[in-house]
Amino acid sequence: MSNKKKIAVIPGDGIGKEEIPQAVRVIEASGAPVDLTYFDWGADRYLKDKTTVPPDGFAMLGRDFDAILAGAFGDPRVPSNIHAKEILLGMRFQMDLYANVRPVRLLDASLCPLKGIEPKDLDFVVIRENTEGVYVDRGSLTGQGTDDEVAIQEDINTAKGVRRIIRYAFEYCLGQKRADGTPRTRVLMCDKSNAMTYAGGLWQRTFKTIAAEYPQIKPEHTYVDALCAALVRDPRPFDVIVTNNMFGDIITDLAAGLQGGLGLAASGNIHPGKTSMFEPVHGSAPPIAGKNIANPMGAILTAAMMLNHLGLQDAAEKIEVLVLEAVRQKKTTSDIGGNLGTMEVGDWIAKQVVPKFVAYIGDPDFHDGAVSKLIRDADQLIVEVTGYSGAHFLVRFTGVESVVSHEPQGLMIYALGEIEARAPSRRFIFTNSREPGQKGGESALEVVARDVSVEKV
Ligand code: NAD
Ligand code: IPM
Ligand code: MN
Repeated sequence: MSNKKKIAVIPGDGIGKEEIPQAVRVIEASGAPVDLTYFDWGADRYLKDKTTVPPDGFAMLGRDFDAILAGAFGDPRVPSNIHAKEILLGMRFQMDLYANVRPVRLLDASLCPLKGIEPKDLDFVVIRENTEGVYVDRGSLTGQGTDDEVAIQEDINTAKGVRRIIRYAFEYCLGQKRADGTPRTRVLMCDKSNAMTYAGGLWQRTFKTIAAEYPQIKPEHTYVDALCAALVRDPRPFDVIVTNNMFGDIITDLAAGLQGGLGLAASGNIHPGKTSMFEPVHGSAPPIAGKNIANPMGAILTAAMMLNHLGLQDAAEKIEVLVLEAVRQKKTTSDIGGNLGTMEVGDWIAKQVVPKFVAYIGDPDFHDGAVSKLIRDADQLIVEVTGYSGAHFLVRFTGVESVVSHEPQGLMIYALGEIEARAPSRRFIFTNSREPGQKGGESALEVVARDVSVEKV
């Protein structure tokens, strides 16, 4: 049986159709073991045969896949938005993906519209309730077209629903660290209980009860209007924010603005233990669709979030590091100041993510050798390799930051590969498998250094 993760890919509409292929090529280049199946659900399919989701569609996704990667849904040719509602909200509601997890992280200070905000200052997460609230779209309309018309939109909040999302937020706070490795410590509940007393009352009571179970976490509360003002004045105090469906929708677009725009924001629609769905926060952006100008980084970071959720942390981390590197080197689309197209950004990241051989191809003596000696001198490391043909090689690393050795002496060496470039340093690996960085082979020695050279002696 294959141990590949089965992913359903639904690019959807507009820029989703341009970005998801870029996210997919980055996943594939990362070497993550995935098996992809594409679905054409979206406006084109709906306009062709009126299908939004085929019968049994949600059950099939839940049964046959480990995760779903979706683009965006919404098309001016379908003004009712019925297909988006049935596909996107359908997945969230029918598959009971109750936690919409939207991390808000600043990759680089240059992306934030606020003065003096560094990446360490902007690293919070919004946990948005995803199966209730006004999104249930229950209500009524009477007297349509008359002066007495009344439109009622109900806001549904169940004890079970509120309880599980608040508990999810506390568990997230306990289990997830900030990007700098420090623990999360606070959960802030955001509502509008001063005006919406029925729903707000339930959220307030539930929050209080659950917070009492987590004495190590500081519970906080802010009304949603005040929260918006606070977020744009100073986002530093925020850690984990939990809120209802609609407030979560609004706050996360605002928060995306702080991160550098909607083109960078990622999200996961999660029910622990069930097939979960990952999508960028932004929509289908019809005015910029089809022009190769949409920023694919939100979709690529969403793919990393999905891989992380599936237990493929190495690939996920590699992708996140490379998106950051692309931002630093201005290999970006114009919305964040670069001059590359959607495809070119995907191409740059995909090329960087591939493990590169430093020595092996064209040097038959070097592969199939063994490490015979390690000499560490200040910030240099010299690794002596004896090829099985008897030839000796000196692999000289300069600007060494760290060395992780897994008993390399005598271990067979197949290749030296570069598995990550994180300026100004690079990460190298001696491995006895054909694919550096790939699982299955053993890594003999990992070195983070500025440079490397190989000489035959
Ligand atoms: P939108 O997110 O599509 O666009 C808002 C603004 O952000 C636009 O100026 C757009 O050009 C810009 N933008 C968005 N993504 C970008 C990217 N990757 N790169 C560069 N710029 C980007 O929101 P909207 O205009 O309100 O909605 C358009 C359609 O998308 C509607 O049909 C809406 O219902 C739908 N929508 C779908 C989703 C989803 O599928 N998850 C989310 C939001 C909106
Ligand atoms: C989002 C979107 C959706 C939402 C729309 C398309 C229904 O804005 O994912 O944030 O409001 O949830
Ligand atoms: Mn939204």
